[in-house]
Amino acid sequence: MSEDLENKEIIFSEQDSDTKKVDNNDSESIVDTNILRPKSFDEYVGQEKIIQSLSIATQASKKRDESLDHVLFYGPPGLGKTTLSYIISNQIESNFIHTSGPALERPADAVGLLSNLSPKDVLFIDEIHRIPKSVEEYLYSAMEDFRVDFITGTGAFAKTINLKLEKFTLVGSTTRPGLLSSPLRDRFGLSYHLDYYDDKDLSDIVIRSSALMNLKIDKKCALEIAKRSRGTPRIANRLLRRVRDYLEVKNIKTFNEKLIDESLEIEGVDTLGLDRLDRQYINIIAKNYQGGPVGIEAISASLNEDQATLSDVVEPFLLKIGFIVRTSQGRKITKDAINHLGIELEIQDQERLI
Ligand SMILES: Nc1ncnc2c1ncn2[C@@H]1O[C@H](COP(=O)(O)OP(=O)(O)OP(=O)(O)O)[C@@H](O)[C@H]1O
Ligand SMILES: [Mg+2]
Repeated sequence: MSEDLENKEIIFSEQDSDTKKVDNNDSESIVDTNILRPKSFDEYVGQEKIIQSLSIATQASKKRDESLDHVLFYGPPGLGKTTLSYIISNQIESNFIHTSGPALERPADAVGLLSNLSPKDVLFIDEIHRIPKSVEEYLYSAMEDFRVDFITGTGAFAKTINLKLEKFTLVGSTTRPGLLSSPLRDRFGLSYHLDYYDDKDLSDIVIRSSALMNLKIDKKCALEIAKRSRGTPRIANRLLRRVRDYLEVKNIKTFNEKLIDESLEIEGVDTLGLDRLDRQYINIIAKNYQGGPVGIEAISASLNEDQATLSDVVEPFLLKIGFIVRTSQGRKITKDAINHLGIELEIQDQERLI
């Protein structure tokens, strides 16, 4: 089945292959990504409620021989949104057409793509929040009534064409659900928020990935990697690969906790999974802004780092572990954050922290 799926995958445009590269950018080699990506609901670890709901929806649509309702996945990067989209298409035995918001630059791109869909095809739009407004409007009628109306020619020669579409399934993925307009959001019959994984699930993912990479790892060592993975399967797989490299260079065959510590320290990953950027973020607020509150624009300028990276990647995890809080005046760090990093603040600043 997985081979079938790979054969049926259609990449829509040049820009889209760029998007795929971005998806794999996190030092994931493409070969490993293909091997490690779960191909069925059974192989997918965690997110039980979502799997249960999707499994019912896909089975029902198969039974009725109808297209599946449109699906939206949202949540931080690396939690399995693209993976679930592939699995859906696998499960309903449909074609998988992969594109992304930025690749659909002009309405003609969208109309061309939509008019070529076959019944029950899965049209996957990654970074759906980045679709231009002019293109988004075509999606409304395409999703709701399976048709698009567009105008050809100009002036006296202008003509409206009503194009009927096959009943397809749009699967959208985004790390920024807040940027989706409500007409678009409302057209998804199935909408799922992917949340960070707990250590147990991540450790199961490390064990599963190790087996697929022919590595032997015990539960204790898998948990050590899991604990530093920021609740994120992509990071768990990446750290596993870094430890594997370290062992290989040291000519050691079995994992142990000391080696995991050593190799991840070299990578700049600490015991809670914070990396250099997380630590710089906390340090800037502590040292330059007396612990906050401070706006994201100022932090981004001080760190010389893109705002989107801070709000999509850095902040959600620091919020989750209680190292920062958001107030109406901006971001503040907490006592837990300065204790973890061993930062010394002026007494009066320290007293203001939560
Ligand atoms: N539940 C899971 N079980 C096992 N492996 C998983 C799971 N979720 C994700 N992975 C692994 O993590 C990698 C990243 O997942 P995926 O590409 O689906 O994330 P994403 O949510 O689409 O990220 P982005 O927002 O950056 O596009 C996959 O290649 C897969 O190997
Ligand atoms: Mg993705």
